[in-house]
Amino acid sequence: MAQIPPRHGGNLQQAARQLGCRPEQLLDFSASLVPFGPPAALRRVWRRALRGGATADLVAYPDRSYRDLREAIALHHGIDPAAVLPGNGAAELFTWAARDAAALGLNTLLAPGFADYQRALACWDGRWCTSLLQLPHRNAGPQAVTEALVEPLPPLGGPLWITNPHNPTGQLWSRESLLQLLEQVPLLVVDEAFLPLLPGGEQQSLLPLAAEHPQLVVIRSLTKLCAIAGVRLGYAVALPQRLHQWSQWRDPWPVNGLAAAAGGALIADRSWQQRVQRWLGREGPWLQQALARRPGLRVSPSAANYVLISADHSLQPLRIALEQQHRILLRDCRSFEGLDERWLRLAVLDRRRNQQLLRALDQALVPDRA
Ligand SMILES: Cc1ncc(COP(=O)(O)O)c(C=O)c1O
Repeated sequence: MAQIPPRHGGNLQQAARQLGCRPEQLLDFSASLVPFGPPAALRRVWRRALRGGATADLVAYPDRSYRDLREAIALHHGIDPAAVLPGNGAAELFTWAARDAAALGLNTLLAPGFADYQRALACWDGRWCTSLLQLPHRNAGPQAVTEALVEPLPPLGGPLWITNPHNPTGQLWSRESLLQLLEQVPLLVVDEAFLPLLPGGEQQSLLPLAAEHPQLVVIRSLTKLCAIAGVRLGYAVALPQRLHQWSQWRDPWPVNGLAAAAGGALIADRSWQQRVQRWLGREGPWLQQALARRPGLRVSPSAANYVLISADHSLQPLRIALEQQHRILLRDCRSFEGLDERWLRLAVLDRRRNQQLLRALDQALVPDRA
């Protein structure tokens, strides 16, 4: 049976089953998480929570209003707690943003792009079209969205979904260009899941405006920043009335007690965020330059903690060789509209593991040099 390319990276359990090894024996470059997480604050909070029967965070139902967590997030960003809604990962919040978006006409998504917006829109029979990005792109940004498209955006009657920085390209969009688009649409959903990892990223954020702009929703995730994909924690920032409506629609306790208890400490940990940005400022350019020296590989400039690479021929044999001979997982990009077997995405990890990847690439690329 032909294998369907995965729509998401980080499928460790499945890959381990196929390769006959344990998930922890794999080196995962397919999901883009900070390589030295989770922060110590997480274990500190959970140790405290689990001591003494964990009555508040484990035995009892979570606070339905998530007031402490909303206040911690609001304090971190200097906004009103009523404009914050924590969710069970950003993915849950896309579902509610999509419910609003589906009711507002034809949605525009950029392609290639993150597939979960389509999943969310499909839940509500939402309609969408895609605008193609130029590939490979010339610079990592901050760049105007409108200058990066193959064709000019059609007049936007409906909602627009933006990922900043973009996934899978790693392009950073300029705040100015997003503000111009905001004026043209009934709803702009900006997914800033990766933005806090980028040195200078916050300067391009629309989050500070979301509490006042009725047609703006900004969604963040702690998955990448804190390497806690398994915990499931994200938040939306938007007009309080919109978020109140979402919380009426969803389950009573979408964020579990342990995630809610940890969230406040994680978001307040500025030294963690600085450490992450220092790592990416150093390791991102280093890995991109090292990859660009590999024969036959093209590297798309990225501001993010992942890099899109391409070649004139299929990179599937390379991906499979790395997986089977080195237990290294890369992101197969065939599920992205506009990309095919010539494209792969890989995460930026720490120097030791990045070097391990480069050594494996060199071995696998040897036949191409002949
Ligand atoms: C652009 C983007 N946004 C959001 C998410 C999902 O975040 P979460 O784990 O908080 O649901 C991902 C995960 O891959 C992503 O790539």
